[in-house]
Amino acid sequence: MIERIGIVGGGQMGAGIAEVAAKAGTHVLVREINAELVEMSLTRITASLDKAVDRGKLESADREAALGRLDYTTDLADMADRQLVIEAVTEDEGLKTEIFRALDEAIEDPDAILASNTSSIPITRLAAVTSRPEHVVGMHFFNPVPVMALMELVTTVRSDPAVEARAEAYATDVLGKTVIRAKDRGGFVVNMLLVPYLLGAVRMYEAGIATAEDIDTGMKLGANHPMGPLTLCDFIGLDTMKLVADVLFDEYKEPLYASPPLLTRMVEAGLLGRKTGEGFYTYT
Ligand code: CAA
Repeated sequence: MIERIGIVGGGQMGAGIAEVAAKAGTHVLVREINAELVEMSLTRITASLDKAVDRGKLESADREAALGRLDYTTDLADMADRQLVIEAVTEDEGLKTEIFRALDEAIEDPDAILASNTSSIPITRLAAVTSRPEHVVGMHFFNPVPVMALMELVTTVRSDPAVEARAEAYATDVLGKTVIRAKDRGGFVVNMLLVPYLLGAVRMYEAGIATAEDIDTGMKLGANHPMGPLTLCDFIGLDTMKLVADVLFDEYKEPLYASPPLLTRMVEAGLLGRKTGEGFYTYT
């Protein structure tokens, strides 16, 4: 049974996974790179737990218990006793491979599972830098993790079916997620379909076919989506959107995955969406 997990990277996704796991009764050790980022990550989790209490989704006592199961470190070597580690750092292949090498060195349990929350980098490449590729899978969560019900389990030609089954059981039985399985191909299931749609909305806006508000209202009221595509781009982060699009384009060489010039320019200008206060919309 998985009782101790590690999360590498306490940002939007890492903090969300850590929160859900701690609420579910698992001890969670989050690694961030310095004290300031540790503080930011903890603030993010506390705010989300507070919101859950305010909405009547969580008892105050359970909020305290969840926080009591959460620890931080700045040293990857502290992951030594973890049974499952989920890497959730920025979508940078060099950084991720460096982390997988270090985790492979640090983790003592030969049965431990090494997972990545990447939405775009092949799991096979991360597995290949470890001495235990059969123990490496993708566990791709969706933002906001406490609210979104899905997890994509990404399997490789090297992953062991018993390891896949343990990762799936943890996500379903402990975290309460619904799991779908995908092979290790760019975008897996959801992003392979979602990203061309979102890029299409950026192209539509760039071509002046409709305003951002009208594009978003169109998809909210005409297709019952909870958020319009440009609001969702701002929510995901335009830098992440562009990174994912670039990786998908590189994988399939199909124009529908190419980053529209406007998206590229906005990222270069530092207009990254909600996280910087400005993207297709302005946030206060
Ligand atoms: N903890 C627990 N529950 C929470 C919560 C929290 N921190 N915050 C909100 N909730 C609950 C609320 O109580 C509410 O529950 P009920 O429906 O039972 O009342 C529900 O979540 C919705 O919350 P809100 O009313 O605050 O918010 P909303 O209705 O405006 O929805 C949203 C917000 C969930 C983000 C919604 O707009 C949405 O689903 N948007 C689309 C998100 C999406 O597509 N995400 C995927 C992005 S792609 C990705 O992540 C993958 C990638 O690789 C790029």
